[in-house]
Amino acid sequence: MTGIRANESLAARLREGLAERLVESGAIRAPEWRRAVEAVPREKFLGERVYLSRDEGGFTYWEAMTPEGCGNEGWLRLAYSDETLVTQIQEIGRADRHGRISGEPTSSSTLPGLVVSMLEDLRVEDGQRVLEIGTGSGYSTALLCHRLGDDALVTSIDVDPDIAAKAAVALHAAGYRPRLLAGDALTGYLGEGPYDRLIATCSVRHVPQAWIERVRPGGVVLATLSGWLYGSGLARLTVTGAGTAHGNFLPGTVSFMTARAHHAPHLPQPPRDGDRRPARFGADTLNEWMPRWIAQLAVPTASRFTVFDDAGPVTCITDGESSAWLSGSGEAGWSVTQGGRHRLWDRIEAAVQAWRDSGSPSQDRFVLTVAERRQVVSCPEHPALTWALPIIRS
Ligand SMILES: C[S@@+](CC[C@H](N)C(=O)[O-])C[C@H]1O[C@@H](n2cnc3c(N)ncnc32)[C@H](O)[C@@H]1O
Repeated sequence: MTGIRANESLAARLREGLAERLVESGAIRAPEWRRAVEAVPREKFLGERVYLSRDEGGFTYWEAMTPEGCGNEGWLRLAYSDETLVTQIQEIGRADRHGRISGEPTSSSTLPGLVVSMLEDLRVEDGQRVLEIGTGSGYSTALLCHRLGDDALVTSIDVDPDIAAKAAVALHAAGYRPRLLAGDALTGYLGEGPYDRLIATCSVRHVPQAWIERVRPGGVVLATLSGWLYGSGLARLTVTGAGTAHGNFLPGTVSFMTARAHHAPHLPQPPRDGDRRPARFGADTLNEWMPRWIAQLAVPTASRFTVFDDAGPVTCITDGESSAWLSGSGEAGWSVTQGGRHRLWDRIEAAVQAWRDSGSPSQDRFVLTVAERRQVVSCPEHPALTWALPIIRS
């Protein structure tokens, strides 16, 4: 067998293995998606290198992997692992002498298990027109083309022209010809529409009105809502009318890189002064999925960062006008110092306490209601758990 044929047969076996694992994990539920995973060659969407996240003593860095470095078989095995493979990093710090790279991932081929489980959640049916926000590597776009069997039904957009161009090359090389757009999906042209389904593989702080308007009434919008405290939730909305939609958050812990215009602002470090008191909840509350999300809903324009002083890490929450500094933990307990216009940690503690007093409902008990000028997250069984999302006018 020639090298190329040996690689192709190994790739086919690895694809089947991946599909089998995704069926077992429950990510794949329908035979159509299994066939798509078995058909789409993920290795063709990875470009010349990918970056894997590594952690060394709390220091997170990126390790570049290439086909040359991994060897043919190693590269194929990486392609068919159920891992997110980062394909672009912004502001790559110069690799240190150990080859460690630092920077922000700006594009990736998302782990196939998540891609396909979201495609299942999208409830795509034969003949439907789908808009994908965040083409990235083009792998998920290819799965959609394969599933629908008619590339003209699939439109995909990416904000980064370089990423969009590379995805176009990869998709064409793999035999797919969807409609591809390069532009900002939050403000720009979204293709012809109307669409039956819209799926976003970058996260947003609120659902852009244009997305709802491009989907026909009765159509579905699937998007991850995120924020600057790193809380996240995947919502499936049904469009109910012109500019309105409603639906549930789904179970699971889905997070995506934030759409570029929704990135956290670079705020100056606020002064560490104000009223000091013992904190009822410590900064470690923000390490848990639901409390972090509730905290973010309570202070929706606040960001979070950590600094290190002699006593250890200190967490700061700030919205530019107000700040809350949390330090302590252990035996002495947590203390909070709050300054500025609002008492941010008071709001977070009240919201997290209200959620706990309501029996700590899981995320899938919450709904998102989108109206023309207002988007609200609420838990219908507990009206006290209701928060408006921050709407950014673009
Ligand atoms: C996680 S990657 C997409 C993964 C991809 N669907 C896949 O399976 O390979 C997210 C992508 O969203 C894109 N993106 C970020 N902000 C965007 C925006 N405002 N409009 C369109 N695309 C955006 C990024 O450039 C990035 O390529």
